[in-house]
Amino acid sequence: MVRRIVVKAIGGFEQLQVEEGPAAHEPKSKEVTVVVKACGLNFYDLYVRQGLSPEIQPPCTLGLECSGLVKAVGNEVTSVKVGDKVSVHCPKGGACVEEITVDEDSVILVPNHISFDKAASFTVNYLTAYFSLFHVGGLREGGAVLIHSAAGGVGWAATQLAKTVSNVTVFGTASPHKHELIRQNGVDYPISHDERYSDIVREHRKEGVSIVLDSLSGADFTHSQQLLEPLGKVVLIGARGMLGEETRSMWRILKTWWMTKDISPYTLIVNNCGVAGFNLNELRYTSLQTFRKGWKEVLQKILSNELSPRIDSVWTFNDIVDASKQIANRKNVGKVIIKP
Ligand SMILES: NC(=O)c1ccc[n+]([C@@H]2O[C@H](COP(=O)([O-])OP(=O)(O)OC[C@H]3O[C@@H](n4cnc5c(N)ncnc54)[C@H](OP(=O)(O)O)[C@@H]3O)[C@@H](O)[C@H]2O)c1
Repeated sequence: MVRRIVVKAIGGFEQLQVEEGPAAHEPKSKEVTVVVKACGLNFYDLYVRQGLSPEIQPPCTLGLECSGLVKAVGNEVTSVKVGDKVSVHCPKGGACVEEITVDEDSVILVPNHISFDKAASFTVNYLTAYFSLFHVGGLREGGAVLIHSAAGGVGWAATQLAKTVSNVTVFGTASPHKHELIRQNGVDYPISHDERYSDIVREHRKEGVSIVLDSLSGADFTHSQQLLEPLGKVVLIGARGMLGEETRSMWRILKTWWMTKDISPYTLIVNNCGVAGFNLNELRYTSLQTFRKGWKEVLQKILSNELSPRIDSVWTFNDIVDASKQIANRKNVGKVIIKP
């Protein structure tokens, strides 16, 4: 038997529980069994608990990513061997467990000097930021980016990645007490959520920005489009406005979608701007090679210290409610880690 964090049903924090379940199955030919040492918590895990994920519905085991040591491999596995340290991506959830068996494509070898916490921290956040800024957004030298929640996992990663391109200006929103830290991470202009961020951006860059990384949707999606410089792009990655209180609010969901205005092709043409969406899980399902190439590139940049994931806090499985509240109550700066 192994311990796992389960979401018993759609609902509040009380639905997060630690349970014992069957051990991971023996790896088939192209599978790998990993003894999990650390798991990364994501904003998406809050969506799952509230029943807002179309893909992962409770009852389920929580978690999109983890790290650990390879315990066993199938006879056709070539990229890792028993004893290796790996990061694991679980797009269908299930990462918060003491032992897991996944297909070989879901693991990447990480060197021993990278801590388990760090190895569990970068996959979802850094790959989302990497593909959104570079593949979808096409960030170029001298450009500017507006990053919502720049102190969160994706925001932290996006700031660092944007700054790998020369002469890029970063605007970032976050709670005021996080401004000094996001500034140290590379945000040139920290902005509070209750400030009129569009005005502040225009004050410093009257032509607007090249990319808005929009995780909010709703009315902000309209502001995002209005903030673009010619040839700029909004990259929509989430709908955080849907998540309000501890439990799902149909009113908030409907309001968010109601306020996420349709895009007019005519306006896009006339304004020379673009609107795009990005979904890491879908990319993984539909373009595995691209996904894995990006995974390796991001890891290389971490190994060469060009990128440096920040661990906000480390908790145990038994603290899952408090760990989740760290994100839900807007306290985290960087990644929240949970250990078995
Ligand atoms: N499309 C994809 O493939 C993909 C992949 C990963 C993540 N995402 C999306 O990207 C966004 C960021 O994800 P993440 O995992 O890095 O989360 P995160 O940013 O670490 O989330 C926590 C932070 O978000 C801010 N926040 C803004 N609105 C909030 C709200 N209504 N409730 C609670 N916190 C709120 C808070 O910081 P401040 O208030 O200080 O800003 C909080 O500390 C999420 O919307 C997520 O769904 C999308």
